[in-house]
Amino acid sequence: KVLILDFGSQYTQLIARRVRELNIYCEIHPFNKIPSDSDSFKAVVLSGSPNSVRGEEVLHPDLSNIRGKKPMLAVCYGAQYLAHFSGGEVAESNTREYGRANLGFVKEDEAFFENISEGSQVWMSHSDTIKKLPTGGTLLASTADVENAAYKIEGEDTYAIQFHPEVYHTTDGKQLLENFLVRIARLNQDWTPNAFVDETVDVLKAQLGNDKVVLGLSGGVDSSVAAMLLHKAIGENLYCIFVNNGLLRKNEFTDVLKQYEGMGLNVKGVDASARFLEALAGKSDPEEKRKTIGAMFIEVFDDEAHLIKDVKWLAQGTIYPDVIESVSATGGPSATIKSHHNVGGLPDFMKLKVVEPLKALFKDEVRRVGASMNMDKGLLGRHPFPGPGLAIRILGDLTPEKVRILQEVDAVFINNLRSWNLYDKVWQAGAILLPVNSVGVMGDERTYEKCVALRAVESTDGMTADWVNLPYEFLQKTSNEIINKVKGVNRVVYDISSKPPATIEWE
Ligand code: XMP
Repeated sequence: KVLILDFGSQYTQLIARRVRELNIYCEIHPFNKIPSDSDSFKAVVLSGSPNSVRGEEVLHPDLSNIRGKKPMLAVCYGAQYLAHFSGGEVAESNTREYGRANLGFVKEDEAFFENISEGSQVWMSHSDTIKKLPTGGTLLASTADVENAAYKIEGEDTYAIQFHPEVYHTTDGKQLLENFLVRIARLNQDWTPNAFVDETVDVLKAQLGNDKVVLGLSGGVDSSVAAMLLHKAIGENLYCIFVNNGLLRKNEFTDVLKQYEGMGLNVKGVDASARFLEALAGKSDPEEKRKTIGAMFIEVFDDEAHLIKDVKWLAQGTIYPDVIESVSATGGPSATIKSHHNVGGLPDFMKLKVVEPLKALFKDEVRRVGASMNMDKGLLGRHPFPGPGLAIRILGDLTPEKVRILQEVDAVFINNLRSWNLYDKVWQAGAILLPVNSVGVMGDERTYEKCVALRAVESTDGMTADWVNLPYEFLQKTSNEIINKVKGVNRVVYDISSKPPATIEWE
């Protein structure tokens, strides 16, 4: 496996994704927390950073146990770091070094530049520049503005590049990573979804033995794939609970429950809609709604978990982005592993031992693992859906009638996206029930009814998002269908705000 030392660059996760795309396993660790089992890593990548090696907050780890002993690829800040502290020189750059540039080779390096041709486009993003290479450094490539764009250290498998191989604008970036990892570091490209499934099932079997495990299914991709892996490992000892909070999409509870049963899962559907809606009655503040739903979920789940005798483990569908500790710009590890346990007064099921079979995977890898277990494409391709469900898409307070209206509107929108083959082109879509009535006319009647907003966004991780340019004909047809079919709605609008400054959800 590969160790990626994170100096806080916004691109660090992208490095990990590219490495994984090469079917090589890697882990990200903060620069100041080098794992004690560093021998198990066959190669090291140093990431970029928002910091400067000349600044006040220099991120300065001791690499003496690694440098020269293992193949190392230093990217951007990493390259400057190696230069600055090993006999070279880094200074503020006086030309613009941001954006596209083209590589000019200075010295042949067959392995490092294999299948990459002169003039290949690379992406630069830095404000300092390397003025002088470190001791033992040999220049490999330059661009028009950056003389020291790539170098190696003689006598070591240490390579450094000023550009970012992990971003798509670096046309041969993946090839370069492959050259370094496969040709120079001699890693095997054997980390595939099938291999992951086999290995994980073996580990789970050994770890869980005959113990009973409880897992909360949400209908989403992560919990479903986690359940399938555990099912393969321990079969009937996996007890799945699927809670209907009354805020799911139309027919979702029954449809998904059937689907889970079809997959052979030992699943219990718990319809707690009434409990949730009762607890939410009269609450209109978004955070209060979220808290109420979170607390109620724990209550319901805890009750159910108690019905299972001698359960020892709680399984969760936590994925890698939830786990990665990122480094703050000031150099201290911000150490924010997202906590699932930050609720006041730990309920009993939180005292169970936790098993998280997906915690090394990115979202797209979870989907690939699911596909390799022949899971349903529709289930694996589902849009993200928030835990509080329709509650945060009904602005203001909730009533059963409002939930019904929004379920109908949402169903028309989502079904049309499917029938127009747009569903898979959109990252997330849904409808929002606005707390306004507006005047309309239907037949000879004046109406004074609800307005709904439709929202469809493109995104990769939900952190940023853009509204989708859906065809006018689609919007026209969907709007007509909603107003004609859903009683209580006489106006449809389309949300054309991006995130930031808006968010995906309205609450
Ligand atoms: P925002 O609205 O913050 O949403 O742009 C980003 C992504 O997160 C989802 N989301 C939630 N998911 N509980 C969840 O499980 C929540 O309270 C919650 N709020 C937002 C949202 O659907 C989008 O995918």
